Amino acid sequence: LSTAQRGRRHRAAKHAVRDLPALAAVAALLLGAGLALLRGSDPASAAPSAGRQPEPGVVPGELGPFLYGRDCAGCHGDDGEGSPRGIALIGAGEAAAHYALVTGRMPLREPDEEPRRAPPRYTDEEIDALVDHVARFGDGPPLPDVDWRRGDVPNGGELYRLHCGACHSATGIGGALVYSQRAPSLMPAEPSVVAAAVVSGPGAMPSFGPQGFTDDELADLVSYVQEIRTPVDRGGWPLFRAGRVDEGLFAWLLAVPAALLAAAWVARRSR
Ligand code: HEC
Ligand code: HEC
Repeated sequence: LSTAQRGRRHRAAKHAVRDLPALAAVAALLLGAGLALLRGSDPASAAPSAGRQPEPGVVPGELGPFLYGRDCAGCHGDDGEGSPRGIALIGAGEAAAHYALVTGRMPLREPDEEPRRAPPRYTDEEIDALVDHVARFGDGPPLPDVDWRRGDVPNGGELYRLHCGACHSATGIGGALVYSQRAPSLMPAEPSVVAAAVVSGPGAMPSFGPQGFTDDELADLVSYVQEIRTPVDRGGWPLFRAGRVDEGLFAWLLAVPAALLAAAWVARRSR
C-alpha cells in the first residue's frame, strides 16, 4: 500500500468511528419507534393458552371447582369469601369473572400485583367453567348477551362520549386517571369484554350495573367500541391514534431529533 492509500484508509476509518455515535442514535430512535408500533398492536391477537391438554381425570362438571381450587382459592378463599391475599368474590358475578379471565387479568401471581391485560391463561371451556363456578358465590351481575352487530353506532358514539370518553379518551386509546392509575386502551376489548366491564365496573372503573343502560343502549355502546377498534385511517400514518397532543410530542421527541441527527451525519460525511 502506498502512503497516500494508507492515509486515505486511516481517515476513512476515523470518519467511521466519528460517525458511530450518530448512527447508533438514529438506529436507537428507529428501534424505539418500531417497539412503540409493536406495543400498539392488539394483544388479543396473541395466541391464547388454547391447545393445552385438559387436566387429566377431571369430570366436565368438576372442571370449574377444580381449577378454582387450584388457581384461585389461595387468594379468594374456598367459597369466594376472600382472604388477606385477595378480595371476596361473593356477589362479583358472572360479568366480573368473565372480564377478569378473558382479559387475562386473573389469576394474579402475587396479591399486590396490578391486574393487567394479558393473553388469557385458560381455554374458552375452562373460562366458562370458572365463570360458572364464581357466579355461584352470590348474586352478581350476569354477563349481558348483547346483540351488538345490530347496534346503532352513532348513538353508541354519543353514549361513549358522555360516559366513557373522559377516561378512555375520545379515540379509545385510554388515558391517565388520578393516583397514577390508568384507564386502559380499548383496542383489545372484545364485545363481551366491553359489556362485562360496563355492568361490573372493574377496578377503578365505575359500575354502571345491569340497569345503567338498556339492552339497546348497551348494544349501541358495544358496537361503537368495536367500530373504534378498527378505524379506517384515511390519509397518512395514524401515529398509534395518540391524538393531537401526543402527535406534537411525537414530533418533538422523535422526528425532530432524528432529522437533526441525520442532517449532522450528512454534513460530516460531505466534509
Ligand atoms: C395472588 C392472588 C390472586 C389469585 C391467585 C387470583 N386472584 Fe383474583 N384478585 C386478586 C386481587 C388482589 C384482586 C383485586 C384486584 C384489584 O382490583 O386491584 C382480585 C380481583 C378479582 C376479581 C374482580 C372482583 C371484582 O369484584 O371486581 C375477580 C372476578 C377475580 N379476581 C377472579 C379470580 C379468579 C377466577 C382466579 C383464579 C383463576 C383469581 N382471581 C386468582 C388476587 C388474586
Ligand atoms: C372513571 C374512569 C372510567 C370510566 C368513566 C369508564 N372506564 Fe372503562 N375502565 C376504567 C379503568 C380504570 C379500567 C381498568 C379496570 C381494571 O383494573 O381492570 C377500565 C376498563 C375498561 C375495559 C377493559 C379494557 C380491556 O379490554 O382490557 C373496557 C372495555 C371499558 N373499560 C369500557 C368502558 C366503557 C364502554 C365505558 C363507558 C360506558 C367506560 N369504560 C367508562 C376507567 C373508566
